[in-house]
Amino acid sequence: MTHISDPITIRNLTLSNRLVMPPMATAKADENGHVTDAVCDYYRERAKYSKIGLIITEHSYIHLQGKAHPGQTSLASDDVIPSFRQLTDCIHREGVKVFAQLSHAGSAALSKITGQPPVGPSPICHPKQQEEPPAEMTLAQIRQVTEWFAQAAVRAKQAGFDGVEIHSAHGYLLNQFFSPLANQRTDAYGPQSVENRIRFHREVIQAVRQTVGDDFPIALRLGGCDYAEGGSTALDCVEACRLLEHSGIDLIHLTGGMHGFIRPGHTEPGYFRDLSVPVKQAVCLPVLLTGGVTTPAQAETLLLEGCADLIGVGRAIFKNAHWAD
Ligand SMILES: Cc1cc2nc3c(=O)[nH]c(=O)nc-3n(C[C@H](O)[C@H](O)[C@H](O)COP(=O)(O)O)c2cc1C
Repeated sequence: MTHISDPITIRNLTLSNRLVMPPMATAKADENGHVTDAVCDYYRERAKYSKIGLIITEHSYIHLQGKAHPGQTSLASDDVIPSFRQLTDCIHREGVKVFAQLSHAGSAALSKITGQPPVGPSPICHPKQQEEPPAEMTLAQIRQVTEWFAQAAVRAKQAGFDGVEIHSAHGYLLNQFFSPLANQRTDAYGPQSVENRIRFHREVIQAVRQTVGDDFPIALRLGGCDYAEGGSTALDCVEACRLLEHSGIDLIHLTGGMHGFIRPGHTEPGYFRDLSVPVKQAVCLPVLLTGGVTTPAQAETLLLEGCADLIGVGRAIFKNAHWAD
């Protein structure tokens, strides 16, 4: 039986307990995506008081082309590394481990933010914006983005992060490839099979693994199900995780797909357990379940029921660093 106070080892990294602060955008970076004192203060307080073993910091764009909003942190260039080093140092001083989340927003990255046209798997608008259809990515562009992920991961490692999480959820680029709602390609990345829909993911994971080496954990945040007609299903999610199990990742972080981190009609603690339970049965990788948890007792119950190996607590910690007192 697993308890929240049990340590867990992910690849070479041991976390002191099973509670995780999932990525949540503060939008407090400067205009170039550098971490500011306000960002450091926010994370320092959570590391000190929130009783978590791991923080996954907010989504950082891997290239300006994938920037989602003003105030977003960047891992797109080397000049950001010193400011991230301050952030990782202040989290480590509190005895908490920290991963960086690497993101490309795809069709959600509008030209008014990035200065360049949005791209995606197919020319289909993101559900949250109908103003600017993305251009269908060429194979060369897919290779380019794969390299950007790998370069951003190396910067994260140089900045003192203990691992990285690749963002494939909440309607962002990799999630768009996974979802038949956004992906109508006719090539090997198209929606004809789950294997095709996660081809890009595997290439990104492989490229990241090659550049960060063997001693650095890689998590994948997967928007496993769209909860919408014609979208990805819980069965797709399980199949994807099976196919990704030996791809080089060390942790699967489950959440929702094209329509965000909400599951329609559900707000109970662990509302993505419909995904985490079958995934946990299907693969040997540790599974992180986030959504709806607001007290340590709820997290403990989910672990005792075998719904996941780690529990993410988002909005409760966002609102109040002392959530667990
Ligand atoms: C303000 C805010 C910002 C968020 N930013 C991110 C993000 O950068 N990356 C990500 O994967 N999820 C993001 N999320 C989703 C959270 O990680 C989490 O999945 C969601 O809050 C549901 O968990 P909860 O019920 O514990 O809050 C964000 C959520 C909120 C409320």
